[in-house]
Amino acid sequence: MRIARTIAEVRAAVDDAKQRGHRVGLVPTMGAFHEGHLSLMRRARAENGLVVVSLFVNPTQFAANEDLSTYPRDEQRDAALAEAEGVDVLFAPEPAEIYPDGFATSIHVAGITEVLDGASRPGHFDGVATVVAKLFGIVRPDVAYFGRKDAQQVLVVQRVVRDLNLDVRIEPCPIVREPDGLAMSSRNVYLVADARARATALHRALDAAAAVHRDGVLDAESIRSSALAVLADAGIDPEYLELRDADSLAAVDRVERDALLLVAARVGAARLIDNLLLKGDA
Ligand code: PAF
Repeated sequence: MRIARTIAEVRAAVDDAKQRGHRVGLVPTMGAFHEGHLSLMRRARAENGLVVVSLFVNPTQFAANEDLSTYPRDEQRDAALAEAEGVDVLFAPEPAEIYPDGFATSIHVAGITEVLDGASRPGHFDGVATVVAKLFGIVRPDVAYFGRKDAQQVLVVQRVVRDLNLDVRIEPCPIVREPDGLAMSSRNVYLVADARARATALHRALDAAAAVHRDGVLDAESIRSSALAVLADAGIDPEYLELRDADSLAAVDRVERDALLLVAARVGAARLIDNLLLKGDA
């Protein structure tokens, strides 16, 4: 596996692979790899001739009060894990390579970034959309892989691709969970002792909602209440727990089309998110 620090290096590897007729898969990451990241790499490896993983803790998607300085970083460990998955190129640039002096462009996706995480984390999705568009411009992948845990991020990236006519297929991939149901996240390292145990309530809350929905309940408030009760039992007051249309993220009163139940909550020192897709019966 090659570690590329510059745009020129990664482009040379991609050009070479394309000349050989290889399909190029990109897995954008901020490092601190866990099984979720590795599952994306495996999928990319199975489907492409060249696999590029970007490792860049993108400063523009963190607000001033967030965890940019403490975000877990261990490039050596990440490189070993990526290599073991058969990744060809780990693109790990310095911030100045991505945001040189004079960098002045930002991509804003209206509407879907104004709710949920976009409301709690102003500017976050502008940072995500901008860096992902840059990574697409740098790597020019045929396909890019994203985890569904960040459901709103997937929708934002899909909208950027559609609106800007970018020639890349977005492949949303399943959420990977710990054996007790906690969705894997690089930020789970912030969960210690009691908080780690309480964090499972997010998944249990979504499960409770899924059970109510399976019983034929379509009313959003009843579905939400069942999940809220589980969170309350664990002493968790969510930042949001909302049922939204799975494509537009518009609020829904009844699950008539595919809907997402999305939750964000602070548990101990970690801010966690999770979600569940409820299939519409229409
Ligand atoms: O999901 C992430 O790790 C980041 O938001 C991403 C997509 C790599 C952009 O920095």
